Amino acid sequence: MPSSLKSVVTYSHQPPPDASQLLHLFHQAPWAKHRSLEDAKEMLRYTDLTLCAWDAERLIGFGRVLTDFIYRATIWDVIVDKAYQRQGIGTEIVKRILNHPRLSRVELVWLCTRRPGFYEKLGFTSKEQTGMVWSRSKQARSE
Ligand SMILES: CC(C)(COP(=O)(O)OP(=O)(O)OC[C@H]1O[C@@H](n2cnc3c(N)ncnc32)[C@H](O)[C@@H]1OP(=O)(O)O)[C@@H](O)C(=O)NCCC(=O)NCCS
Repeated sequence: MPSSLKSVVTYSHQPPPDASQLLHLFHQAPWAKHRSLEDAKEMLRYTDLTLCAWDAERLIGFGRVLTDFIYRATIWDVIVDKAYQRQGIGTEIVKRILNHPRLSRVELVWLCTRRPGFYEKLGFTSKEQTGMVWSRSKQARSE
């Protein structure tokens, strides 16, 4: 990252005060394109940890965690604004999540990704056992 940008990006564990900024990021990610403002606000209420990257007042990166704080944590929705990608911000978001003091006892951190190369650089490895998902929308389509 150029040092000029590095110095202006700030990171915070506070959820974004304006969820519409988060929606702007969600709409850049294939799996989150159709999310609504109302649902995003509700999600933030029940998410255990969030990490936001800011360029002044502009939300430029996000990641969140669901966890029991002991055995398992899952990381979801790591997204960096297209205009700010490939400058180390995504790496910083994940590192700050992994180093969060409230996660220091967690045994295993889990995530699903379309970008395994990005997470391998951060120490993640592929799990041999097969992940399985139950999708509400797929159930509805097959009925
Ligand atoms: C994946 C994502 C979060 C990475 O954020 P970022 O700020 O661009 O990542 P960084 O700059 O910290 O990149 C670190 C390394 O990851 C790899 N990487 C980042 N984006 C990549 C991409 N799109 N394709 C392949 N490798 C990528 C690079 O190897 C990079 O190393 P380099 O600096 O040697 O090039 C960002 O591209 C993004 O938001 N993508 C859309 C949403 C998404 O796919 N999220 C992943 C969660 S499933």
